[in-house]
Amino acid sequence: MNMNVTSDFQIFEEKSLAALDAREALIDEVWRGLRKRPRSLRPWMFYDAEGSRLFECITTLPEYYPTRTERDILASYAQAIVTATGSDYSRRLRLLELGAGTAAKTGILLEAATRLRSEVIYFPVDVSPDALDEACDSIGCLLPDVQLQPMVANYVTHPPKLERFNGNTLATYIGSSIGNFSPEEARAILRNLRSGLRAGDALLLGTDMVKDMATLVRAYDDRDGVTAAFNLNILHRLNRELGANFDTGCFRHRARWNRAESRIEMHLESTRDQCVDIPAAELSIQFAASETIHTESSYKFTQKTLGALLDDAGFTIKQTWTDPRRWYALTLAGLQ
Ligand SMILES: C[S@@+](CC[C@H](N)C(=O)[O-])C[C@H]1O[C@@H](n2cnc3c(N)ncnc32)[C@H](O)[C@@H]1O
Repeated sequence: MNMNVTSDFQIFEEKSLAALDAREALIDEVWRGLRKRPRSLRPWMFYDAEGSRLFECITTLPEYYPTRTERDILASYAQAIVTATGSDYSRRLRLLELGAGTAAKTGILLEAATRLRSEVIYFPVDVSPDALDEACDSIGCLLPDVQLQPMVANYVTHPPKLERFNGNTLATYIGSSIGNFSPEEARAILRNLRSGLRAGDALLLGTDMVKDMATLVRAYDDRDGVTAAFNLNILHRLNRELGANFDTGCFRHRARWNRAESRIEMHLESTRDQCVDIPAAELSIQFAASETIHTESSYKFTQKTLGALLDDAGFTIKQTWTDPRRWYALTLAGLQ
């Protein structure tokens, strides 16, 4: 862990607490999602150390265009984005990031911010302590002047509280993560974020846009099976952390386009009738052959649905940057 973080001790404390909380949260999720049909698990559960590692592998796959496309947009427009964030360049900038992961792309934005602002504070929030460690190490090496204030938390159940700050805040929510939530959940997350922002602050939102079905499905069902391994890791995690006995060879990865909901769905399909015990949750679950666990949705937007979501959450679009194919959008929004 790099030394320009708030305090190594604080991070250690947060990580230990997060591990305890994570076990309780996993048990709650298993109770919520596996006892009734249709079965589901929430996507934050993918991201233990192995899940975060597999996600990084996904981002390099030829089929997975979102990361590459978003990085290209940032590389072309980072300076314009920071400039559009606020006009008083002497002011300090606090960059809050929800679901920061390893911050592989955020460095581009932070680098532009250090050129334009007198002081830059980076406040990454993620449920994965391992991903956050990597984020702090890489940003600390790349940009030693940036102050780091990492926070291990589930931003849905424990939204970060923004302390008063003498400068602008840019809330960054990229990586198409907003797409993992239903329109109602997405609105609630953005409204919550909005409530912590002040006049002069802004939101930078990354969204994947509707495109042809074949491209979409391929991005979530790659030839090498990395996305399948990422999806199955949720069962491995329940085996490791809750003592479950999922036979992962008897579940297979499925990715499908749900046109009516405008979302890619990832499921784990049981290949036979089977019973799974989850001792830490005191549960036994009976799966029928072909029954699925819905593990992730990835909503795809149009300009219209994106505008409506931001409007409902109390934001006004200031500017949108996109790629030549208009596959992905980075939208800067101010407060209404
Ligand atoms: C799709 S990855 C995106 C990572 C990074 N922002 C990027 O653009 O590559 C989602 C990230 O959000 C984190 N995450 C998912 N759900 C979360 C939640 N409810 N609270 C906090 N972090 C979450 C995961 O650990 C993961 O690092």
